[in-house]
Amino acid sequence: MGKTILVLTKKHNYPIIIDFNLFDTPLPLPFLKKGDSVMIVTNQIIFSLYFKKISTLLNNMGVRINHVILPDGEKYKTLITVNIIFTSLLQNLHSRDTTLIALGGGVIGDITGFAASSYQRGVKFIQIPTTLLSQVDSSIGGKTAVNHILGKNMIGSFYQPNIVIINLSCLYTLSKREFSAGMAEIIKYSILFDKKFFSWLENNINKLFNLDKNSLIYCISKCCNLKAKIIYEDEYEQNKRSLLNLGHTYGHAIESELGYGKWLHGEAVSVGIVIASLTSKKLNLLNNQDIIRIINLLKKCYLPIKGPINMNTKHYLKHIYRDKKINKNKIRVILPIKIGKAIIYNNISEKIISHAINENKNFIF
Ligand code: GLY
Repeated sequence: MGKTILVLTKKHNYPIIIDFNLFDTPLPLPFLKKGDSVMIVTNQIIFSLYFKKISTLLNNMGVRINHVILPDGEKYKTLITVNIIFTSLLQNLHSRDTTLIALGGGVIGDITGFAASSYQRGVKFIQIPTTLLSQVDSSIGGKTAVNHILGKNMIGSFYQPNIVIINLSCLYTLSKREFSAGMAEIIKYSILFDKKFFSWLENNINKLFNLDKNSLIYCISKCCNLKAKIIYEDEYEQNKRSLLNLGHTYGHAIESELGYGKWLHGEAVSVGIVIASLTSKKLNLLNNQDIIRIINLLKKCYLPIKGPINMNTKHYLKHIYRDKKINKNKIRVILPIKIGKAIIYNNISEKIISHAINENKNFIF
């Protein structure tokens, strides 16, 4: 029933293993041998849920295990937290042949990946994503980062994991809010690349929220496949990979303005997708019918479609100018032009952006 997808990158290829009950059988880690050491990086909640199972499996392989528990939440995705990992690695005498295991959601994955990319100039790294959002997006493709007070994900690296293990059973313990947040990234993939997948989502949302096994396998492997294809074509985001930032320019502005962690990343991306769609509409690039379908699908997933009431155009623009998607001080946005296709739009005017933000502020839907 499970699926394996191969990600092909410049330095090495790696598998994404997708299935249920993956913590109940030996972990597929052929590169770990008896006597090797690992550092599991996690948070308190995930530690309570899964650490015992994972550490038993690793113990059975004869691997030396240490762990470090990080404070939970986007606001702790900082250099200070990365240093907690370094300290624990050094105190426990982990050398260059160690492996870091990110056991958790996107925040744990991003911080651990960044630590792995720089500890002793780079060590092996395993992603075990436990949230829907990290399973379909952030654990794949090697983007690692921490936030700076002046901007989200501003300090980071491209550093690919050696394997991604997606245990779908983790979704049983996920809150509905976290599940919805993951749906925003899933909807993003369908708008960008796959009209049929978008229609499938319209017809199967209830099954996904009810954790129907076949629907989850289909949906998550579809997203992983779409992402693996993009990574193969443009690992370092020189061109096509930037399409994956649909909704993120506006979304990051919301996260940065409100303070990291107030809104979940997926919630901010949901509003970002709506504002990007309204931007397309203003430029006559996207028809009204498609916008209504996009908004309806986001709403069906219990996602917000309007930005925070206390944020105006100035707030958004302040953060947009600090974002990585800026090129020579010109704003670049990803715009859907129909369901299943989007473009990179360079040098968009502040006037158009402001119009879309204001339309989002005022619309009643
Ligand atoms: N999350 C977008 C990317 O990996 O490029």
